[in-house]
Amino acid sequence: MAIRKIRENGDEILRKKSREVEVIDDKIRELLEDMLETMHKYNGVGLAAPQVGILRRVIVIDLYDGNEPLKLINPKIIKTKGQQEVEEGCLSFPNQYAKMIRPEEIVAEALNEKGEKIKIKAKGLLAQAICHEVDHLDGILFIDNMLPGTLEFVEPAQE
Ligand code: NI
Repeated sequence: MAIRKIRENGDEILRKKSREVEVIDDKIRELLEDMLETMHKYNGVGLAAPQVGILRRVIVIDLYDGNEPLKLINPKIIKTKGQQEVEEGCLSFPNQYAKMIRPEEIVAEALNEKGEKIKIKAKGLLAQAICHEVDHLDGILFIDNMLPGTLEFVEPAQE
């Protein structure tokens, strides 16, 4: 496993559309492991492959709630319900947060790392995180969705 470099706002790769994964091979499994490690290092709840410079439809999510992290390949949101106003950040935008409206509940389909088709019903923070990461695969960034005037810069706490 390895930590990969996170691409930050202004890097044009973040605006590109990612390609579907056709074959889940060792390279994809290694990408998933590296993405998980990279996300954990920076205390993120989600990371999408273009954020580490790879234009493939691969995301990882970990809410640190005791559940196993999600590793999703070719994720697709097939249903949404309701709305929630949320605050959101992104590892590609260090120390920046904004408010936006996300669906309250979603249903998503994806492949797991064994290539099995899975269906995920999510609400609240998990629904928000999946929407945010799937957006990345289409070159959509959280600042595109934010409620006007809500972007804030927050200085990190001193360690
Ligand atoms: Ni992000």
